Amino acid sequence: MKEYTVKGKPVRVYVCDSEDEIASQAADVVMYAIRRKPHLALGLATGSTPVPLYRKLAEKNRAGEISFAKVRTYNLDEYFPIDPASPLSFRGFMRDNLFSKIDLPEEAIHIPRGDAPDADAEAARYEAELDALGGVDIQILGIGSDGHIGFNEPADRFIYPTHATALTEQTRRDNARFFNALDEVPTHAITMGIGAIMRAKKCIFIATGKNKAPAVKSALLDDPSPACQASVLQFHPDTVFLLDRDAASLLP
Ligand code: PGA
Repeated sequence: MKEYTVKGKPVRVYVCDSEDEIASQAADVVMYAIRRKPHLALGLATGSTPVPLYRKLAEKNRAGEISFAKVRTYNLDEYFPIDPASPLSFRGFMRDNLFSKIDLPEEAIHIPRGDAPDADAEAARYEAELDALGGVDIQILGIGSDGHIGFNEPADRFIYPTHATALTEQTRRDNARFFNALDEVPTHAITMGIGAIMRAKKCIFIATGKNKAPAVKSALLDDPSPACQASVLQFHPDTVFLLDRDAASLLP
């Protein structure tokens, strides 16, 4: 582990040799937490980065080492509009990569509805749900190459409530690999705001690959700024950064 001191505060960074090592480390933290609190509120992220973690959690569930029967999950975001039944929706992504492989009850899944009639009203509904919860116990976070967490895109301020947002061109290009063409990538989304992310008791931040290195460096070491939304985590009291060598390559 490396520990950086940023403005007098420790930032805990684990540089791992492989995606598999990151997945094992993160899975251990999640499983330990579920064993201590079976009804854990677990914040989840989509994208390629957490897939090895989800594979590991599903393996452990299949092997009987952990149960999700009492866990509640809260996803960071969802495209809008999108059919939740579509495999391209984040609900579909979660179903294919985790939910269909573990003993989590359907009613324990919380994700903004991509087919709600009104994005702002759906964002407010999700925010009320998160508010009632008072913060997830553990939040899994990836980072966009533009520094976003959830779909909190670079801006001139941090937006605290859950909200509807336009996606940056960079994010749409990054996510185009899941679609047939760039113009099929949704232009908007609903995302947990910075407030709900910061209310998480613990964050597990995962980043892999060279294309994340500039955003990771900015998030961890630059002055916190809404131009790199992940930099707000410098103020979070318990975030663990799990990086592969490529994502950590611009850190001193
Ligand atoms: P990725 O996405 O894991 O597919 O790179 C991360 C993110 O956009 O948060």
